[in-house]
Amino acid sequence: MKLITQIAEMHEFVDACRTKKETVGLVPTMGFLHQGHISLMERAIRENDKTIVTIFVNPLQFAEGEDLSSYPRDLEQDTSQCEATGVDLLFTPSPEEMYSQPILTAVHIDSMTSNMEGASRPTHFSGVATVVAKLFNIAGPCSAYFGEKDWQQLQIITKMAHDLSFRVNVYGCPTVRHSDGLALSSRNAYLTPEERTSATVLSRSLQKASETVQAGETTASAIRAQIDDQIATEPLVELDYVEIVEGNTLNSIDQISQGSRILVAAKIGKARLIDNVDPYCGIT
Ligand code: PAJ
Repeated sequence: MKLITQIAEMHEFVDACRTKKETVGLVPTMGFLHQGHISLMERAIRENDKTIVTIFVNPLQFAEGEDLSSYPRDLEQDTSQCEATGVDLLFTPSPEEMYSQPILTAVHIDSMTSNMEGASRPTHFSGVATVVAKLFNIAGPCSAYFGEKDWQQLQIITKMAHDLSFRVNVYGCPTVRHSDGLALSSRNAYLTPEERTSATVLSRSLQKASETVQAGETTASAIRAQIDDQIATEPLVELDYVEIVEGNTLNSIDQISQGSRILVAAKIGKARLIDNVDPYCGIT
């Protein structure tokens, strides 16, 4: 595996791939890799001739007072995991390499960024879209893999790639979970053992909601209330939102049907965790 930090080295690598007519898979991450990230890499490796992983804790997507400085990092361990998985190139740029000051250009996606994570973190998705747009430009035509765990992010990136005509196929990959249902997340590292136990209420409430929907209750307000009530039984869990939306547009809906998505976010101790489900599939 090649390890690089410079944009120019990325260009060299992808130019060589194109000369050899090799397809490129791209997996953008912020590191502290876990099996969720690895599942994206494995798919990229299966579906492409060459796979690039990027690790960059993107300052633009953290607001003042968020966990940018304390975000967990372990580049040595991440590098061995990428190597063991079979990644071809690991790109770990510095903030200075990615953003030459001052930054005057940003990518903004309308409406889809204003609810849910966007309501709680108003500058977050512009930061995500800007860095992902840069990575798409740096990598050039490729297939890029994102997790359904961050459903709103996946839909926004899909829309951005389409609206701005990036030559990138954006693929969503299923959420990887612990055996008790908790979605894997780098931020789970912030949880105390007691909080870790309480955190399973997110996936438990989404699974129960899916069963209620499949039993015939499709009124969004009723399903929201059921999830609210279940999360309220866990005193360590402070609910941020429960939203039921049309899966691709992220518009709120009153009646649940095929293609709907239920999303939750909650604060548990120092961690802010998110999860979501297709109510007709449930937590898998
Ligand atoms: P990060 O949180 O490191 O996640 C990188 C990718 O891994 C994202 O596509 C995310 O959805 C996916 N992922 C995280 N947990 C997962 C899980 N349990 N199962 C499956 N996939 C999972 O998301 C970001 O970084 C950043 O916002 C980024 C897109 C890299 C832009 O900075």
